[in-house]
Amino acid sequence: MLVVSLSSTGRADDGADFFEKKVRPVLAEHCYSCHSTATKKAKGGLQLDTPKVLLKGGDSGPVLAANDETSLLLQVVAHDPDVPAMPPKGKLPDAAVADLRRWVKMGAPLPAATTQLADGTAARQFWSF
Ligand code: HEC
Repeated sequence: MLVVSLSSTGRADDGADFFEKKVRPVLAEHCYSCHSTATKKAKGGLQLDTPKVLLKGGDSGPVLAANDETSLLLQVVAHDPDVPAMPPKGKLPDAAVADLRRWVKMGAPLPAATTQLADGTAARQFWSF
């Protein structure tokens, strides 16, 4: 018999899944070329490719605030007139902007670490802002 459990994943897992499926690909495709730890000099002092640097923010300080629509990260992708528009050329598809907004409203959950347990299984820890 096949048993499918829909309630086995907690909220944190859902959030980190959302990050992996909807947020990371957008950042990777549209932002990492200028904002990653692999970039020699990250633009605006901002790197977006690990939880630690994402949390740290850029030259203007943190770019994310939990549940906060005024997060700088959301303002730049929404092309808010008060901030530099990101990406500098073109605009993200509306669906991607909406996904980023939804992610921040979820508390910007990120996969923080994968720890190898003694029995060989991996324990993932999550944290949010
Ligand atoms: C072609 C290079 C390039 C790409 C691609 C790019 N950026 Fe930027 N970004 C910059 C530059 C240059 C600055 C500094 C601009 C300024 O301060 O006027 C900047 C600044 C920022 C800042 C402000 C940092 C601070 O602390 O002042 C944020 C937030 C940001 N970018 C987010 C993003 C996001 C999110 C993406 C992807 C959707 C992205 N950027 C894609 C070049 C880029």
